[in-house]
Amino acid sequence: MTDTLLEAARAVQQRAYAPYSRFRVGCALEADDGRVFVGCNVENASYGLTICAERAAVCAAVAAGAQRFRRAVVVSDANPPAAPCGACRQVLSEFGRDLAVEGVSPSAVVRWTIAELLPAAFGKEQLA
Ligand code: THU
Repeated sequence: MTDTLLEAARAVQQRAYAPYSRFRVGCALEADDGRVFVGCNVENASYGLTICAERAAVCAAVAAGAQRFRRAVVVSDANPPAAPCGACRQVLSEFGRDLAVEGVSPSAVVRWTIAELLPAAFGKEQLA
């Protein structure tokens, strides 16, 4: 069966702008209404300004009015598959602790929830 989310993440990985690290990442995020949003990493000559694929996908989704997500697929060429960086875990966690995250490499898949990737997260509850 075709995995639409995986195909979307693979396609957007090809659009990554990663001339410095050469590490291309694609992320596809499925909203609870079935819409799919994608992002790729966008590097910069001022290295610290690099935007990760996951956060790019979240921004695309929120800008389109989606804030509830079921599943995120993150594709890279790392083996074992790369998990989202700490900053991206925090940003994904903002929108639901039970989000399913899949790290995909050309030959393996690893599955987590965002709660597993970022235990004891800082969240909106702390601001109350
Ligand atoms: N990168 C992502 O896009 N997502 C992550 O979660 C980890 C790292 C990107 C940032 C940079 O362009 C490259 O991968 C190497 O760190």
